[in-house]
Amino acid sequence: MRSFYLLIIATAFVLTACNFEGAKKETLVKKEYTPVTITPDKITRITLNDSVSHILLARGRKIAGAAKVALKKELRKAIKEGGLEHAVEFCYTRAMEITDSISLAEQVIIKRLARKNRNPLNETNEDESNIFKGYVLNYIGGANLKSMVSWDDLGRPVYFNPIMTEAACLNCHGTVGQEVNPEIAAKIAELYPEDKATGFKLGDIRGMWSITFPEYMVVAAE
Ligand code: HEC
Repeated sequence: MRSFYLLIIATAFVLTACNFEGAKKETLVKKEYTPVTITPDKITRITLNDSVSHILLARGRKIAGAAKVALKKELRKAIKEGGLEHAVEFCYTRAMEITDSISLAEQVIIKRLARKNRNPLNETNEDESNIFKGYVLNYIGGANLKSMVSWDDLGRPVYFNPIMTEAACLNCHGTVGQEVNPEIAAKIAELYPEDKATGFKLGDIRGMWSITFPEYMVVAAE
């Protein structure tokens, strides 16, 4: 019996070793996406007054900050390891997983929404789209863009904050033929035939964070 186990272990080892060779190709197979579901033990009814908003804003800011750091760190690593094209593949297979892992750790739902999106799963619904438009109008008017807390159809509070286009983003979200070189544009078109997320300029609003807190239900707002 013992030698049988040993054989299994040895075979498993050989198989893993072989898989390792082909790992780069295999990671490109995107699994069907299942959105994160958070089921809180208890739902607390809240009034969205100044002090509660303040707490949710602070928590949202902290979580969005952590997600941003995690994404940027991994993106930088992917570019260093395999160049921009590899980094596009990396975002394709891993971006959602990275934000989802923080969602689970924090028991919130983290999204990176965009009207001009690359991954259609990041599409805004009507309410989100209106919030986004509000940010764009403020941006055009030269006002400061502030994070905010609202609530969704289920009454759950949601934190929003715009995501700005930085210089490092232009390689993949800038203008095709200028910042986005043809090979990268081709890779993006292959993985995202419906891509809408190019043509951004430095400082443009690229999208927005939305962080939903399922453990609360807004029953009144002051
Ligand atoms: C190497 C190419 C690359 C770079 C550089 C890059 N992105 Fe992206 N970005 C992508 C890909 C690919 C996706 C789609 C990810 C997915 O499928 O979940 C994406 C998705 C997004 C989304 C989600 C909304 C959507 O369009 O689907 C936002 C927001 C975003 N990127 C912002 C940024 C910002 C801000 C930067 C710079 C700090 C940046 N990106 C840099 C490739 C890149």
